[in-house]
Amino acid sequence: MSLDGKRLLITGVITKDSIAFHAAERAQRQGAQVVLTSFGRVRRMTERAAQRLPEPVDVLELDVNKDEDLAAVADELRSRWGGVDGALHAIAVAPEDALGGRFLTAPAESAAQAFQTSAFSLKALAAALAPLMGDSGSIVGLDFDASVAWPIYDWMGVAKAALESVSRYLARDLGPQGIRVNLVSAGPLGTVAARGIPGFEQLAALWQAQAPLGWDIADPAPVADAICFLLSDGARAISGEILHVDGGFHAIGAPAQPDRA
Ligand SMILES: NC(=O)c1ccc[n+]([C@@H]2O[C@H](COP(=O)([O-])OP(=O)(O)OC[C@H]3O[C@@H](n4cnc5c(N)ncnc54)[C@H](O)[C@@H]3O)[C@@H](O)[C@H]2O)c1
Repeated sequence: MSLDGKRLLITGVITKDSIAFHAAERAQRQGAQVVLTSFGRVRRMTERAAQRLPEPVDVLELDVNKDEDLAAVADELRSRWGGVDGALHAIAVAPEDALGGRFLTAPAESAAQAFQTSAFSLKALAAALAPLMGDSGSIVGLDFDASVAWPIYDWMGVAKAALESVSRYLARDLGPQGIRVNLVSAGPLGTVAARGIPGFEQLAALWQAQAPLGWDIADPAPVADAICFLLSDGARAISGEILHVDGGFHAIGAPAQPDRA
């Protein structure tokens, strides 16, 4: 599998633990050209991480909720590369009162914020980049299985359910232009976003007990490899798909050895 010559926009890097950092690293090793995005006060952190890639890259300003930032990123990619072949959406956030067991008390504005930044933003990014993709492209987002309810995930889980639906509608509307839209549904990984969810360890422990292949919350490499696959021409007939990279957890209803739970 190769990403030779692919021009990729990668959002969602804060630190070198970020899933998107590992995707960028592996994409470069497979021959891709990469730029990162970040915004506001975390931008300095992203810039530090960008220096730690095999080839240091630029960081463009992008608050995915700002139309002017999306337009500026599109203009920059047009003048830099003349187009773009793929993008990773690795963006999610929910206000504190919408997570951690506060499902019944979270206010509508907090749920709406989680939806806008974590789900609607996939549409916003795709619509901004589609005109730069010519007659083919690949957009990949990051999911946490939203087909069931989880402890603590609350309105972030509802936002992920929306993300799954948004990706299908995008696959419908952008397919005729040759643009594919897919999600990788990852098992829990110990990133900044994940550690911000109170009770994250609880979810992580479930994986250790139930994933038939086992699961290492400190190893984002398998998720990064799946992202690179979906960005590559090897996935040219795949769209509207949710690819589970979770050690097989999603296929199993209960731990095979309940005493390990
Ligand atoms: N870590 C996990 O356990 C796990 C599991 C499944 C899916 N995911 C998903 O992976 C993706 C990346 O998360 P991560 O775990 O690498 O954490 P992370 O904290 O490293 O990345 C989250 C990113 O979202 C960005 N972001 C937040 N608001 C934004 C905005 N308005 N505009 C632009 N960017 C914004 C942050 O700057 C950050 O880079 C998220 O969609 C997350 O839900 C994570």
